[in-house]
Amino acid sequence: MSKLAQFILAAVCFTVPSFAQTFTAAIAANEKGKPISPRLFGIFFEDLNYAADGGLYAEMVQNGSFEYSPLDQTDWNALTAWQLSQRGGSGTLYIGDARPLHPNNPRYLEFHCRCTNPDSAVALSNAGFDGMVFSADRLYDFSVFARRQPRCTLTIQVRLESADGGLLAEGQIPSLTEDWKQYTLSLQPNQSVTSGRLTLLVHGQGVLYLDKVSLFPQDTFRKRKNGLRADLAQVIADLHPRFVRFPGGCLVHGDGLNNLYRWKNTIGPLEQRKEQKNIWRYHQSVGLGYFEYFQFCEDIGAEPLPIVAAGVSCQNTDRYWGVGQQAIPMENMADYVQEVLDLIEWANGSPDSEWGSKRAQAGHPAPFGLKYLGIGNEDAQTPAFRERFEMLYKAVKEKYPDITVIGTVGPAPDGYDYEEGWKFARTLSLEMVDEHYYKPPQWFWDHLNRYDTYSRSSSKVYLGEYAAHEPGRRNTLRSALAEAAYMTALERNGDLVQMASYAPLFGKQGHTQWNPNLIYFTNTQVLKTVNYYVQQLFSTNAGDSFLPADWNGGTLPATLAFSAVRESRTGDIILKIVNGGSSAHSLQFRLGGLDAAMLNASQTVLTDEDPSAFNSFENPHRIAPQTSSLNLQPEFEYTTTPFSLTILRIQNPR
Ligand code: AHR
Repeated sequence: MSKLAQFILAAVCFTVPSFAQTFTAAIAANEKGKPISPRLFGIFFEDLNYAADGGLYAEMVQNGSFEYSPLDQTDWNALTAWQLSQRGGSGTLYIGDARPLHPNNPRYLEFHCRCTNPDSAVALSNAGFDGMVFSADRLYDFSVFARRQPRCTLTIQVRLESADGGLLAEGQIPSLTEDWKQYTLSLQPNQSVTSGRLTLLVHGQGVLYLDKVSLFPQDTFRKRKNGLRADLAQVIADLHPRFVRFPGGCLVHGDGLNNLYRWKNTIGPLEQRKEQKNIWRYHQSVGLGYFEYFQFCEDIGAEPLPIVAAGVSCQNTDRYWGVGQQAIPMENMADYVQEVLDLIEWANGSPDSEWGSKRAQAGHPAPFGLKYLGIGNEDAQTPAFRERFEMLYKAVKEKYPDITVIGTVGPAPDGYDYEEGWKFARTLSLEMVDEHYYKPPQWFWDHLNRYDTYSRSSSKVYLGEYAAHEPGRRNTLRSALAEAAYMTALERNGDLVQMASYAPLFGKQGHTQWNPNLIYFTNTQVLKTVNYYVQQLFSTNAGDSFLPADWNGGTLPATLAFSAVRESRTGDIILKIVNGGSSAHSLQFRLGGLDAAMLNASQTVLTDEDPSAFNSFENPHRIAPQTSSLNLQPEFEYTTTPFSLTILRIQNPR
């Protein structure tokens, strides 16, 4: 038996109490309880840390549209991620913009090839995002838009190669025309590699034009075309999120007005989407656009929660690299308001409507059933922001009264934007506001009562971004337990706090602009942090009514947090016990009003002796939930393991 298993066993066998006092809770297990929002636990997705391109979005080619530029990163340009090698021939690369595929996609590659000898060639390679991963038993779909100059003798072989140029699969593009045309083929590698590349091997002489070069695994999540990396999408699905917030974060309001996230630029044929720089200092291909976000939500049974800019850009950018809060000129606001209204028509309108028809053309005639819309992301509460927010809010509510609009109250749990944001929300009688905070673990323990005193007759709360941050920004057990403790308080206040999402979701190793994140990944691995397991355990044991516990009329020690909920679907009662301290504690439970003498239960424990411990790529399973069965009586004693989250799920006890 492992040391960890012995440790857990010792703590639950009621034989090694290092506690001085027993705490007794009476829980009225037969009462109705207080309602908990059915959408309490969801996720926050932002294209930060290479979460989308190079991450969840399964496109393997980097900069396939030749739209990278120094605006993304000063040393990037339209040829970034592409390598030219002369294999006996000679070739030169230029970037053209005179005859683009589409005005939204202005640049393309112009390739001058001089290969006089039939055996000579020039190779253009793309290793994707840190090398392409090919599996021998899988198929990959290649596509490219191409045209040629008159009187060319060019032929193009499409090759999947290993890092040293070894051939894994090969196909031929048929002869080109002088007009843009898309060419597609499927390739199956003859061996698996993790640092492969795509190579276009060009023979002959002449000038060739290429754009939107793409390579996709066929095995995307749910086998969707233009889909998502299956393992990353699955790790999200396994969280059972009730909603998905997208596309951010700061990405929504961007670095200046030219960098707002404009949803219309992200739908339709891929070669017609408008790419742009990413506020996190890389690039957004927007191949993962609004259609793909909505479809993913539907695939995993989560409510879509898009956030649109409130007519202003991000105020924080001037501190580091950008221009600070800029506001859309009032004379352009009517168009912007219409753009937001069009989003709702696109999501929910009939296929006969102007924007609903675009959704239908994309393959989804049925409405997506959008219910929530966030306006703004922790914007500074300036007059310019308020004026534009109010215009947007009123227009949405007038045309779509059933859409719940979520406002924003700044980046912190207190302070000017928080206070003024709440006042503004009350003035407008907003249904819900979005609170954000990143704080040390102890802050979460110290504020377990935060929402207990919030007014129930004012706006509801969406806790859109939160995480416990420690020095070193590691995903420690200590941080995860602080979040778990706080989540018991969110359940207790589940009538007020309607939704909550840890942030951010993803971090690609070697490409993080922000730590900690919920899930880390490489091109081949997915690392579940302890914080991930906490989110998953709460989400899969959420319950829909909160059962108050009477702790002998007193309170628990400051290192313990507790909640009891009922899941009406099963009738199960779920107890969550968080012990953030180094002592075991004996807890006595009395589940009142039950007829059964013996209760079947399961016990899931997430723990480690060391609260500073974390999961890593080297030791990914150091801390993971352990589940076992238990038989309990309506009155039972339970000893909490030090530094642990315990879920006791008591099967329908009636
Ligand atoms: O979650 C990371 C960033 O934190 C978000 O983009 C922003 O909203 C917040 O400041």
